[in-house]
This record gives sequence, structure tokens and C-alpha cells, in this order.
Amino acid sequence: MKRKLVIVILAAGQGVRMKSELPKVLHSVCGKPLINWSLDLAKSLRPNKIIVVLGHKSEAVKKALDKGINVVLQNKPLGTADAIKKVLPRVDKSADLLVLYADIPLLETKTLKNLLKCHRDSDSQATILTVRLDNPFGYGRIIRDNFSRIKEIIEEKDATSLEREIKEINTGIFCFKVNSLAKFISKIKADNAKKEFYLTDIIKLFYENSLKTESLEAENPNEILGINSQKDLVNACNLMRFKIMDRFIEEGVRIIDPQTTYIDEGASILGSTVIYPFTIIEKDVKIGKYCQIGPFCHLRSGTKIEDNVIFGNFVEAVRTNIGAGTLMKHFGYLGDTSIGKNVNLGAGMVVANFDGKNKNKTVIGDNAFVGSDAVLVAPVKIGKASVIGAGAVVTKNVNPKTTVVGIP
Ligand code: UD1
Ligand code: CA
Repeated sequence: MKRKLVIVILAAGQGVRMKSELPKVLHSVCGKPLINWSLDLAKSLRPNKIIVVLGHKSEAVKKALDKGINVVLQNKPLGTADAIKKVLPRVDKSADLLVLYADIPLLETKTLKNLLKCHRDSDSQATILTVRLDNPFGYGRIIRDNFSRIKEIIEEKDATSLEREIKEINTGIFCFKVNSLAKFISKIKADNAKKEFYLTDIIKLFYENSLKTESLEAENPNEILGINSQKDLVNACNLMRFKIMDRFIEEGVRIIDPQTTYIDEGASILGSTVIYPFTIIEKDVKIGKYCQIGPFCHLRSGTKIEDNVIFGNFVEAVRTNIGAGTLMKHFGYLGDTSIGKNVNLGAGMVVANFDGKNKNKTVIGDNAFVGSDAVLVAPVKIGKASVIGAGAVVTKNVNPKTTVVGIP
């Protein structure tokens, strides 16, 4: 029978190297916080249990977790072994424990499935995901004996110059048989440069006690990029961005210039739509088919666009629904707006959705025509097939099939 699987996500560290007030795991990669990348990854394996270890600014991080996620608090970040020690009382001794760090957003489900399979097939006490890096700086190095068995993991700060030459590194992702882990974890000491209890030290204890540690080498080094600094975050965002766009391109979306296009995780775009350069599409935006978006378009959260819509240069929309066939070819702003089908929105038109205190709603009916430079002051309703003159300022509702012009 397959052993149970428990996944623990370590997210209690302070993230000092980020030099930011925001907890490290709340920094976003393509619209999704690091903690949520790791949670979604954990969920994709359908484990029996997920436990998240929180510490630094735990209240803020907790808000990003959905209900039903088990949280264990580690008030002082005494090290990754200390974090695991706090988790063990909640874990079935006969289970496998998969350890994930909350700062590795590019890791993929299939890599973890392979790791788990390797762990179970080889019947090891521990299995480490490793990778070979041309520049292994900052990572724990894998030390092997003459028989190529893993002896120990040495952190950068504790490594000799010879050990620093080693290119095979610890990704931080481990599988353990819980009973062996529980047996040796209390023997770990904080006798290292950082004075922390390193989980990685368990490998040496296993080796000394003839418990088998296996390893699986990840194929793609990008997958295990750990976010420790703002620079790492920039790198991860760039890699993720292209991964997301590749998915859309695969599905028939035409992206003219991926170098200047930013699409968040969670956005949805149907095939046969064209995205022109310098366009930003945020996390929950939905776009239908046969649309033309951009150049220089910013589609913000809560925007839903039906088929055959053209949004041209310098259009910004937020919390807005746009019906099929509607055109806004030249600059303008739409906020909290609901727009019908086949509407023409003139150059420079603006929806004034904010009155200084509240955000108000605007509705524009099917087949309406809004002239250039018009301002619609919310809350306001424009009836179907009405015409708003160029430069008009609309402060009252407009009946269907009615023409209004001027400034009140
Ligand atoms: C860790 C590994 C290193 C590996 C690298 C891969 C250890 C000792 N080192 O180093 O071998 O190459 O990851 O990215 O494990 N955390 C806690 N509680 C703590 C300390 C850390 O929950 O007391 C969490 C952090 O929030 C983070 C993760 O554990 O998500 C890893 O900690 P971090 O300080 O980033 O470890 P690295 O120095 O990157
Ligand atoms: Ca790290």
C-alpha cells in the first residue's frame, strides 16, 4: 500500500536579503504571491495533508492562505530543522513527508511526481532533488563519497573553497520517511556560520547511521531558482512570464512581441486574439477570441472582454465588462464600467468612476456611440443606441436612442 503523503511548506523565514518590509513570501511573481505558487504546487499533488510553517509577520501571510490549510507557527526562525521539528507532532509516523520551500515559484508538478516516485521506488529514507548549476553560489553543495553516495550537504557559508567548486546543489526539496526523520532530527546542532538548525544536516546523520539517501537531478535548473533577493525575484518573474506566454501561444493567441508583453498567471485569452506590444494583462482578466489588444494597453483586474473587441493604443480598463464587437481604438480610461455590444468608444473618452470618496458604476447600452473626449461622470447610464457628442460631459442618465452634447 502506498504511504500517505504530507507536504510541508516552509515560509517562516524573515527574508532579510529581500531588504523589504513586505514578507518575502507575499512578493508576487506574475500576479501571484510566492506562498500561493507553492501552495498550488502542493495541491496539485493531491496530498493527504498540507502544513504551512509561518513565523515572520504570520498574520499578514495567513490572509493569503485559503481556509483548511494547516498552519504551524515558528515564532523564531531558528532554522529549517527547527521548523520541521514543530511540524512533526502533526504528521503520521508512517507517512512520507515532502518538504517544499515557499520561495521556489518555478518548480513544476511533474518534477515533484518524479521525485516522489524515485523516493518510493528506491525505498530510501530521504530523497533530495538536486541540480547542477554553472554558478552554484549561495546554494548548499551536495557532498558525495567515493561510491557516489550522498554524504552531506554543506551550506555556502560553511563550505571550504574546494567544496564551493561543487556544481551539484541542494534545491531544498526533500522527501523523507517520517519515522527516520523523527528519529534523528533532534540530534541536529546549530554549529554553523548562521547558528541555525539546518534540516540539511540530517543527511550527514543518515549517512553515519547507514540510512539510505537517494537523489534525483532536476533537468531544468531554472525550475529551482530560489528567491532570496530582489534580483532573484526579477529573474523569476522574467522566466515565469515567458512560460505563461508560451502557454497562450500554444493555444493560438498571437503575441506580437513577448519581450514587451506582461501577462499575469490566471489571465485567460482565447485563440485568434492578437496582443500588440507594450501590453499588460493582469491576473483575472478574461479576453475572448478575435480581439485586438494594444499596443500600450493596460487591462487591470476584474476586466472581462468578449469576442471581436478592439482595444487600441493607450487604453486602460479596470473592473469593466465589454460586450462583443465593441471598439475603443485610441486612448482612454474605463473604470467600474459595463459596456454592451457593438459600442463605439471615441478617442480620449474617459469614465470618471471616482468621486473623491467612492467608486461608482457606469453602464453603456448596446450600439451606443460615445464621441471623442467625452467624460462620463459615474454613476451614470447611457441607453442603447444613444449618441454622446464629442467633448460632452455626461452627469445624468441618457435614454435609449437619444443624442446629448455639451457640458451641463
Ligand atoms: C536553503 C538550503 C540550501 C538550498 C537552498 C535552496 C537549508 C539550511 N539550506 O538555503 O541548502 O541550497 O535553500 O534554495 O535548508 N525557513 C523557515 N524557518 C526557518 C528558516 C527558514 O520556515 O527558521 C524557510 C524560509 O522561509 C524559506 C525556506 O525555509 O522558505 C528556506 O530558507 P532560506 O533561509 O531561504 O534558506 P537558504 O539560505 O536559501
Ligand atoms: Ca532560499
